[in-house]
Amino acid sequence: MVLIDGKATANQIKNEIAEEVKAIQSKGERAPHLAAVLVGNDGASLTYVGSKVRSCEKVGFDSSLIRLPEETTEAELLTKIKELNQDDTLDGYIVQLPLPKHIDEEKVLLAIDPKKDVDGFHPSNFGRMALELETFIPATPFGIMQLIERYDIDTQGKHVVVIGRSHIVGRPISILMSQKGAYGNATVTVAHSRTKDLKSLTQQADIIVSALGVPGFVTADMVKKGVVIIDVGITRVEDASKEKGYYITGDVDFDSVAQKASFITPVPGGVGPMTIAMLLKNTLLARKWNA
Ligand code: GUN
Repeated sequence: MVLIDGKATANQIKNEIAEEVKAIQSKGERAPHLAAVLVGNDGASLTYVGSKVRSCEKVGFDSSLIRLPEETTEAELLTKIKELNQDDTLDGYIVQLPLPKHIDEEKVLLAIDPKKDVDGFHPSNFGRMALELETFIPATPFGIMQLIERYDIDTQGKHVVVIGRSHIVGRPISILMSQKGAYGNATVTVAHSRTKDLKSLTQQADIIVSALGVPGFVTADMVKKGVVIIDVGITRVEDASKEKGYYITGDVDFDSVAQKASFITPVPGGVGPMTIAMLLKNTLLARKWNA
């Protein structure tokens, strides 16, 4: 069994990005600049955004954290977005999701200039991805594809079962893995809450990508020997015995499933760190494409 080390791979990618930043600066040009907009005080979002900003510093990017209060209106947020679209010192930005309930997420994502949409969430970027055109690939599926590539996992003609059909992970990864190419050409099944007899599907799967957010959902009896497991679940489970008051766990019952797997990503330290590395990669691409 090979434990896929997302943390080490993400650090490797960050080092590669840092080298490129040095090369940009040696030409007398400014460093790439990423901004993150965070509305409200959601604990997990604060942690993620903080981590994104710290990673920018690590690779030599400029970064801006724009914090807006929970009561920010949709109109106010849209005004801010217009400002960011016009800011020439900014290569890319993200609006951290979820947004407070009174703000229409779809409207906000549509307002982001696709050229600065380093999350790849704008419909035109998502459409470009589906059509295999050059674009920003959403960071989490982009990170999964990088792990598959860097660990040279064979996907040709393999049966992939994706659990979850979210716009951020399940849907895009199903598109990417079925595309033509070296780490594509898979036959993909997208399973979701209405899927019947999920177990019979996962038992046939060569590769399982679980993006559900239910701790311990994938158990050893659901998988065949030699399966590749990509666990995208990141759930905070309250636990008073931990310093932070919680621990982080994935969708997969790691200890039992690892016994049968050929490759497996841990949580934490698997897909999570890759997401941030690929956001930085997209910002670097924005810098190149918009130059
Ligand atoms: N919330 C959870 N994941 C993401 C992400 O990749 N980007 C943004 N903007 N919000 C998120």
